[in-house]
Amino acid sequence: MSRSAHPAGPRHGDVLPEGHYAAPPADLNLLDPKVWSKTVTRDEATGAVTVAGLDVRALAEQFGTPAYILDEEDFRSRCRAWQQAFSHLDADVYYAGKAFLSRAVVRWLHEEGLNVDVCSGGELTVALSAGMPPERIAFHGNNKTRAELEYAVKAGIGHVVVDSFEELVRLAWAADQQGVRQKILLRVTVGVEAHTHEFIATAHEDQKFGFSLTGGQAAEAVRRALTLDGVELVGIHSHIGSQIFDMAGFEVAARRVVGLLAEVKREHGVELPEIDLGGGLGIAYTSDDDPREPQEIATALTEIVRRECAAEGLAIPRLSVEPGRAIVGPSAFTLYEVGTIKPLEGLRTYVSVDGGMSDNIRTALYDAEYSVALVSRASDAEPMLSRVVGKHCESGDIVVRDAFLPDDLAPGDLLAVPATGAYCRSMASNYNHALRPPVVAVRDGQARVVVRRETEEDLLRLDVG
Ligand SMILES: Cc1ncc(COP(=O)(O)O)c(C=O)c1O
Repeated sequence: MSRSAHPAGPRHGDVLPEGHYAAPPADLNLLDPKVWSKTVTRDEATGAVTVAGLDVRALAEQFGTPAYILDEEDFRSRCRAWQQAFSHLDADVYYAGKAFLSRAVVRWLHEEGLNVDVCSGGELTVALSAGMPPERIAFHGNNKTRAELEYAVKAGIGHVVVDSFEELVRLAWAADQQGVRQKILLRVTVGVEAHTHEFIATAHEDQKFGFSLTGGQAAEAVRRALTLDGVELVGIHSHIGSQIFDMAGFEVAARRVVGLLAEVKREHGVELPEIDLGGGLGIAYTSDDDPREPQEIATALTEIVRRECAAEGLAIPRLSVEPGRAIVGPSAFTLYEVGTIKPLEGLRTYVSVDGGMSDNIRTALYDAEYSVALVSRASDAEPMLSRVVGKHCESGDIVVRDAFLPDDLAPGDLLAVPATGAYCRSMASNYNHALRPPVVAVRDGQARVVVRRETEEDLLRLDVG
């Protein structure tokens, strides 16, 4: 079947203006289990890819493209892995809803025993409306509105993670008004440079989140919180960033947070019973990525906390973590249809799909790397250096910057981009009045829409002018 359908596109090993490209994978049909969700496989007979026993061609037929295909079994197994890694260590796992949140996902989290962290009134509504007990919800955000704070207190949520002096006063007032004492954590900036993209690093000094440790704001926030009736300070929170592989940042964060607990005990005679070390664990977007297992994180973090507390003569606080990407990220892929193929002599071949930056902004925003595979059939054609782009009127509308695809690729073929469960649908937009794709959950040969495709009626409903 190897015939070159697209003349002139560069081949592996070609030296191009931007430099040498890695050699293409030996077999373009192979699907790396590190990158694809657990029930994804390629059918030997048809060559098409299946997920949860369902052929992607049938899924495209039934639900259309682009579509996010969410592997429920994969999602649940990651929930279990985190729960098992932390539960016997007197620790709690909060799924970070910002990665992707829907009512079905909240129900799965509830059933698997996880908690959820939300960062807006909207996410709180989704979590509550899907039956997550309010005490198992934590509320984040650097500028929560008064209305959101009143709503959260009224709903009886477990923890509010306070991020500013203004919020401390507003929350204490809202709780006073309702005659309750709201449990809080204080988010501190531990001054760690997390090795990740600047836009998703959140613990170095020059960024918007948290009370600075080195600047003394954290200690001042503790002093104020301990004097306010409406709030009950139960602990300290830190989140250093996202898509992180190196444990060093987490270790420094844990050490500095325990250091603050010791300071609080010395100054106020109070032993705060909880610490939350946030989320941030990286996942594999390509075969080059090497993510850590939850068990490794659990062992490393609890060991550091135990050691630091022993050194400070502190009781070991209850630990929480907040993985988002590491749970939902690998559980979904985005299914696209190829529309046009444009080989550029001596450069690369542009493959346009029927989605783009409106359903996956991460490549454009963070220069993120992704993989891609032809999934509607197998092919042993020559690899062609490709750039998968969207249909938006923007040259930055890139989905997969560099990848090898078979050079017999044709319009109508289906491509899938794996590991799009996190920060894709949740950051999707209506740019160019694109309709946000559906999320289709698959399990045991069954497929169901858990978030439906947007319609033009939906867009017009908002356009009330
Ligand atoms: C406070 C907080 N917790 C948890 C997370 C989840 O991070 P990740 O999805 O990288 O695990 C984020 C992400 O930005 C966050 O800001």
